Amino acid sequence: MAFIPEEFLTELRERIDITDLISGYVELRKHGRLSKGCCPFHSEKTPSFTVYEDTQSYYCFGCQKGGDAITFIRDIENLDYVESVKFLAERAGLNMPEDNYDDTLAKKKQRMIYMNKDAARFYHNYMMSPAGKKGLDYWLSRGLSMKTIVHFGLGYAPDDWRMLLNHMRSLGYSESELHEADLAKRSEKDGKVNYYDNFRNRAMVPIIDLRGNVIAFGGRVLDDSKPKYVNTSDTLIYKKSLAVFALNFAKSSGEKSLILCEGYMDVIALHQAGFTNSVAGLGTALTDEQVRLISRYADEVVLSYDADEAGQKALKKAMEKFSNTDLSVRALRLSGGKDPDEIIRKFGAERFKSIVDGAANEVEYKLLDAKTGLDLSTDDGRVKYMRRVVPILADIRNAIERDVYTSRIAEDISVSKEAITLQVKEVSARRNRQNQKVDFGKLSNTSKKMVKTKAEKAEETIIGSLQNNPDFLKKIDESLRPEDFKTEPYGHIYSVLTSRLKAGLPTDLIYLSSEFTLEEMGCVARIQTNSQEISNTLSEVMDCINVLKEEQSPKEAVPVSELSNEEYLKLFKQ
Ligand code: GTP
Ligand code: MN
Repeated sequence: MAFIPEEFLTELRERIDITDLISGYVELRKHGRLSKGCCPFHSEKTPSFTVYEDTQSYYCFGCQKGGDAITFIRDIENLDYVESVKFLAERAGLNMPEDNYDDTLAKKKQRMIYMNKDAARFYHNYMMSPAGKKGLDYWLSRGLSMKTIVHFGLGYAPDDWRMLLNHMRSLGYSESELHEADLAKRSEKDGKVNYYDNFRNRAMVPIIDLRGNVIAFGGRVLDDSKPKYVNTSDTLIYKKSLAVFALNFAKSSGEKSLILCEGYMDVIALHQAGFTNSVAGLGTALTDEQVRLISRYADEVVLSYDADEAGQKALKKAMEKFSNTDLSVRALRLSGGKDPDEIIRKFGAERFKSIVDGAANEVEYKLLDAKTGLDLSTDDGRVKYMRRVVPILADIRNAIERDVYTSRIAEDISVSKEAITLQVKEVSARRNRQNQKVDFGKLSNTSKKMVKTKAEKAEETIIGSLQNNPDFLKKIDESLRPEDFKTEPYGHIYSVLTSRLKAGLPTDLIYLSSEFTLEEMGCVARIQTNSQEISNTLSEVMDCINVLKEEQSPKEAVPVSELSNEEYLKLFKQ
């Protein structure tokens, strides 16, 4: 467990204002002593993320995340505890206390970052050497300039099993370190362990994080063989579901809009053509984390996926994800080329610019997409088109907007506007009926989850009261042990709180956060948030303790059928 001196945390607490800190990530609106905004940890349109000035804490009523400044940085920057403290210390202009905390993991990560940088340098230099001409020629054949190649730090991995390994060993890295960074693979034969280069004879693309560190690589074959790409698998410093390719460049493009593509090659070609606001996922379906990250740097995203069926399918999924956020979405339908890279090479940047400028918004895209495979010059085609289009129109909440599109379609396929409107109304009405049913189902589902056991409520009251009234400690401590708690992780929270209170130490969240996981911090923050509003008397707290004690020694369970009438009635009174 990381140990950071308490005095240091106190200093940090004084220097960092949590509202200030969080407003760098979330647009907050002040309501007295608290501020509200849309939660950066889950998609929502109405704010349920609350920051409390007095307790220097935050809590989201929607996704139940919460904690102090350190917890926030751990979660949003994806850093471990010590790294987060460092991050905040830097922000506050404080020097970290030397060496009396455990930073093995942080050191390991740092070394892996150096290792990747050294590898990137090696791949680049090798490509520039006569031996690596094949790699350089490949990039040039893809239409890239020397400037672009250097800007992206592109390289070439030798057609050899050990060249990177040997080079990196000469720099002092061990084979197992290289293996951990996924730069080397490991095989075992007849009890003998063997390491070899992961990337061989591939054109190399370094993946760079927002701080400019090389955290992974993508390696492309030079011909048509399979697999086309070998990518670094997840390591200590790289989670592909969390990263967005080229966001390090795009975030400073000065644009409020990002162009999201599918492939590395598209992004590189787009940047070269002046679209420095382009980014890509890393070969997996778009994740919530990536959506969150993108929405931190843009107000609008233009989806620029491949023209093939797979691309359009992925595009629809991405659109769905973005429509749950504040970002506005537009989407391109490419024609005359399979992906942005090809369009630019064939027709030039101007053409691509006009495609982006004319990119359809969500509704336009869906209406256009509905035409796929239909011949609108036939009655059959037009009827089928109507069937597809009506639900899309029914989705539009804004009446004026809906009217505009209805007119457009009526004109487009020469059908009366009234006929379409009528059908849309029917669909809306049917949906409303269904929704009422669905919502009801949802309601009973979530309320089931929200119903807490008696013990759970008692436990929360006890912990909340301890935080609000430290003078209850003696009484509570005499009657209750951490083992008496029934619900995870309340026993643990109780034991940390009581031992701090006994030692006369403060229990503000910032002092607790080294002890707890992000989920546990969420629990602590929730209890604190709830207990701010209700304050319990000591005798109420003692009642709660009795609830836990009673559950401790459950009376011999008697089948209901064997109870006397009197006992049976008692059950209901309880
Ligand atoms: P080019 O074919 O060179 O133009 O590359 P591209 O970047 O346009 O790739 P493509 O559109 O085929 O694929 C999109 C993205 O999916 C790539 O950038 C990779 O991140 C990923 N990808 C493609 N092929 C593979 C593969 O064989 N293995 C893995 N792991 N990822 C792949
Ligand atoms: Mn491509």
